Amino acid sequence: MRWSFETSQGQVELIVQEGALGDVACWLSKVLERGRAFVVSDENVAPLYGEDVARQLDAPILALVAGEQAKNWNSVEAVVRFLLGHGAERGDFLMAVGGGVVTDVAGFAASIYMRGIRWVAVPTTLVGMVDAAIGGKTGIDLPEGKNLVGTFWQPRMVLADPLVLASLPPRQLRAGLGEVIKAAMIAPSSLEHLWEEQGARLATGDFWAVTPLLAAAMKMKTEVVALDEREQGARAALNLGHTLAHALEAATDYGYFLHGEAVAWGLLLALLLSQRRGLLASVEAGRWAARLQVMAPLPPIPVSWERLVPFLGRDKKRASGTVRWVLPRLGGVVLGVDVPLEEVHACFQKLLELSEDGPLASLFF
Ligand SMILES: NC(=O)c1ccc[n+]([C@@H]2O[C@H](COP(=O)([O-])OP(=O)(O)OC[C@H]3O[C@@H](n4cnc5c(N)ncnc54)[C@H](O)[C@@H]3O)[C@@H](O)[C@H]2O)c1
Ligand SMILES: [Zn+2]
Repeated sequence: MRWSFETSQGQVELIVQEGALGDVACWLSKVLERGRAFVVSDENVAPLYGEDVARQLDAPILALVAGEQAKNWNSVEAVVRFLLGHGAERGDFLMAVGGGVVTDVAGFAASIYMRGIRWVAVPTTLVGMVDAAIGGKTGIDLPEGKNLVGTFWQPRMVLADPLVLASLPPRQLRAGLGEVIKAAMIAPSSLEHLWEEQGARLATGDFWAVTPLLAAAMKMKTEVVALDEREQGARAALNLGHTLAHALEAATDYGYFLHGEAVAWGLLLALLLSQRRGLLASVEAGRWAARLQVMAPLPPIPVSWERLVPFLGRDKKRASGTVRWVLPRLGGVVLGVDVPLEEVHACFQKLLELSEDGPLASLFF
């Protein structure tokens, strides 16, 4: 599948195609007619896919260390010096082949090398495909917090090959489903039926025929980004489930949950809040929870309400002491809902009380 969307930095081309990585040069030639390619990947993905992409393009390759620890200034400097060392010029472009870490770091480096060169995202994780590679947010972490330094720098192309998901560690894959289900909750009219048809396939590692589902999730994100490139309004919808997720991740020092697992808990809390406020009927909320069951068993929540609270909406808290939430409703989401903390507490308590093997949908009945 192929589509594009307009941004203030030009058109972004998206391609989701089984086997696309077998013929990268052909896909690239559709948007990048000139310039040399430089590949940035990580030490896990380079031997699996990065080196092959580099060979096809006759390009030099740099492999960063794998994982979040690579999102720092050292990596950015390494990419910039790799480009300099090979004489990369302004008309050349960078290919980021990897998960969200690689696309965040490489996209950031591309945005500052010689005041900005073009780049292409080749996401190799589920999170990368449906989230990190789309929207132009790039950046690194600081000791003070995650994603504190970065730029908006749109890739020219996002080239996703669902077949690369086959080598993803199963826990990574399962966690990534959280973002796909989030996308379906934001735009059920285009995604709910595709999840019903292909969600199980995606969850069990059969990556043929999941392309329409992935493409629809990616398309949802491009549509939201097109409305609000700089995250000043509509893009907040993408934060569904993330108020709790970010607090859970921070309260556990980012070492316990994978992001998508924390998002799954966040989606369940949002569903409970919506049910309680009459935004969503129990049967509807229960249906989404049942879909989240493909991610079970989720790592149990290891923090109490008291430990969690200081991390809830830290930066977004309002003077009144409430946090603004994105909540699901029938057919989509509502933005900026003020929910008193006591109400959040009551729903969070339900999550804590859920027995480890209890079906997630039992939260709603
Ligand atoms: N820019 C954005 O809008 C945005 C959005 C969401 C997330 N992010 C960022 O993305 C990062 C998380 O991304 P992620 O979950 O992709 O993590 P990741 O990039 O660390 O990849 C997860 C692990 O899987 C390995 N891997 C990647 N692809 C593989 C494959 N096909 N086969 C085998 N192993 C593979 C990686 O080497 C790594 O060890 C976070 O830093 C987050 O802040 C950014
Ligand atoms: Zn997320």
